[in-house]
Amino acid sequence: MSAPSRLRLGVNVDHVATVRNARGGHLPDPLRAARLAEAAGADGITAHLREDRRHIIDEDIAGLMRDLKVPLNFEMAATQEMLDIALRHRPHAACIVPEKREERTTEGGLDAAGQHNHLKPMVAKLRDAGIRVSLFIEADPRQLEAAVALGAPVVELHTGRYCELDGAAKQAELRRLQNAAALCARLELECHAGHGLSYADVGPVAAIPEVRELNIGHFLIGEAIFAGLEPAIREMRRVMDAARAAGAAA
Ligand code: PXP
Repeated sequence: MSAPSRLRLGVNVDHVATVRNARGGHLPDPLRAARLAEAAGADGITAHLREDRRHIIDEDIAGLMRDLKVPLNFEMAATQEMLDIALRHRPHAACIVPEKREERTTEGGLDAAGQHNHLKPMVAKLRDAGIRVSLFIEADPRQLEAAVALGAPVVELHTGRYCELDGAAKQAELRRLQNAAALCARLELECHAGHGLSYADVGPVAAIPEVRELNIGHFLIGEAIFAGLEPAIREMRRVMDAARAAGAAA
């Protein structure tokens, strides 16, 4: 089998902002975390500006755009407010996610199929501004085909359910992710994955050859409390790369 493509790691710094906002003030600074993540080999930084600004705030996005050398992946709900912010900053990438006020974190994927008419002009405006659009969806063929119909070049497969399950159900969910990633290749969609990934779960997802990028946040920021952010990211990189290489050799 040929060598797998290099798997990119996007580090999500939202939860540095969660800790900051628990007290108000400026510390810990998500921008400092982003710079450390860059130094530790992150290929990109991801930040989700939620409607309620519970973690990342507008000034963080401005600071990340100003200071980062690696690309910013701006996670956004499909609202006019977020579209205007994305068009003002023009990040490298925008990932459209479903957002509910009452949820703790992004639950489930975007209904790209059911929201076609709402999403179509939004995807077009982002693309026209030179922003790489991705849609955060479940590993469901219907949603992948909807992404193609919307003109989105990238999808991010939601790995949250995979991470939460055990045993046979986990293996079945992994197969669903593998099948969706293979379908991405046939549909010429770039395939990313993320949500809930830890050292324990990342290997089988990293080994899916069509997956080009993982976005990981909560676990890394938690692990940073014990190990430091740079060592936590380097260890994630090591686990990802080892699984990728082993997958290619299998
Ligand atoms: N990808 C997307 C689209 C997300 O919404 C999130 C969570 O903000 C992540 C990846 C990262 O998930 P986690 O923080 O659980 O690693």
